Amino acid sequence: MSATETFRARFGADPAGVWSAPGRVNLIGEHTDYTGGLVLPFAIDARAQAAIGPNGAGVFRVTSAQRDNDVISVAAQDLRPSSPAVKGWPAYPLGVVWALYERGIDVPPLDIALDSAVPAGAGLSSSAAVECAVALAISDHLECGLDRPTLARIAQRAENEFVGVPCGLMDQMASAASTEGHALFFDIGADTTWHIPFDTAAASLAMLVIDTRAHHSLADGEYAKRRADCETAAGQLGVELLSQVPFERLDHALAGLTGPRATVLQRRVRHVITENQRVRETVALLREEHIAAIGPLLSASHASLRDDYEVSCAELDLAADTAETAGALGARMVGGGFGGSVIALTAADRAGVVANSVIDAFSRAGYTRPVVRSVTPAAGARRDL
Ligand code: GLA
Repeated sequence: MSATETFRARFGADPAGVWSAPGRVNLIGEHTDYTGGLVLPFAIDARAQAAIGPNGAGVFRVTSAQRDNDVISVAAQDLRPSSPAVKGWPAYPLGVVWALYERGIDVPPLDIALDSAVPAGAGLSSSAAVECAVALAISDHLECGLDRPTLARIAQRAENEFVGVPCGLMDQMASAASTEGHALFFDIGADTTWHIPFDTAAASLAMLVIDTRAHHSLADGEYAKRRADCETAAGQLGVELLSQVPFERLDHALAGLTGPRATVLQRRVRHVITENQRVRETVALLREEHIAAIGPLLSASHASLRDDYEVSCAELDLAADTAETAGALGARMVGGGFGGSVIALTAADRAGVVANSVIDAFSRAGYTRPVVRSVTPAAGARRDL
């Protein structure tokens, strides 16, 4: 059922409108966003839709096409972080309502029906897609006129403080602010964005997303630990955010790390600072329309995430290595790690061979069959109806 049909079936009325926001793939710039670093994500054409409308019920009601007949009702006064009244998936849309309250926006009771085509657990930001669709829907519906970076920050706040996931700003910014045919170059420390043309088809290339279907339970705890490592290192180096260390000063910075965990911190810092540099080099190549030339940067990013940042896993490594052996120009894990997806840049006429090689390798290894999609940069959040 679409969001509109779900809204009608569960709430017995027509919605005031329907908005949507996409999932994302990060081309490069992984585990840099929470250090004030550089990222280069793009939106994909899998979207979450939010149909919303006012209700006379005096409570917020949320439902989802992906949940059979489930309607959750929550009173406005129960909308606060860790409220026992809000558990599981409704925390994403209702967290956005709470974050809007926190900005002083008085959101009246609403009905919200969701329908998402962004696969959950694939590292494609299904949560940011829902948050951004709901944030734009309410902002438009109430004529708040919030700009895209503000909507992204509201969505991130919902996820950080209401849902309780300590993510950076990349996913929400990609979902809120991307444009079709472009990757979004976001310098988080400087708070500036550029839309960089990224047209794989024109270059006879394809970008595959290989969902490994793996999700290791240490993902959330390890993410928080990596953030803490970056904060410790920044403190020792006398900078507010780790990405303020210039690439040219990397060796000097590594020598300045001390304590019993100095060698671990050195690896974390080396990943973050070299990853920022790889983003700069990728942007420079894309600006010159040398898309095929970014392949080695993608592979170097994967190696750095695997060896220095230690957030990869056997399934991600197998997918990236097999894709390259089968002829991909470059491949790397995307998102937080410990499962989720790998991207592989290939010649368009090689994409089938690359995909089948990875599927065969997973079968031989006894892993769940991966899902392989080809993606192109899609539009960010928008009104659909
Ligand atoms: C997750 C987080 C993002 C970002 C990535 C790693 O997707 O939600 O904020 O930190 O991991 O780059």
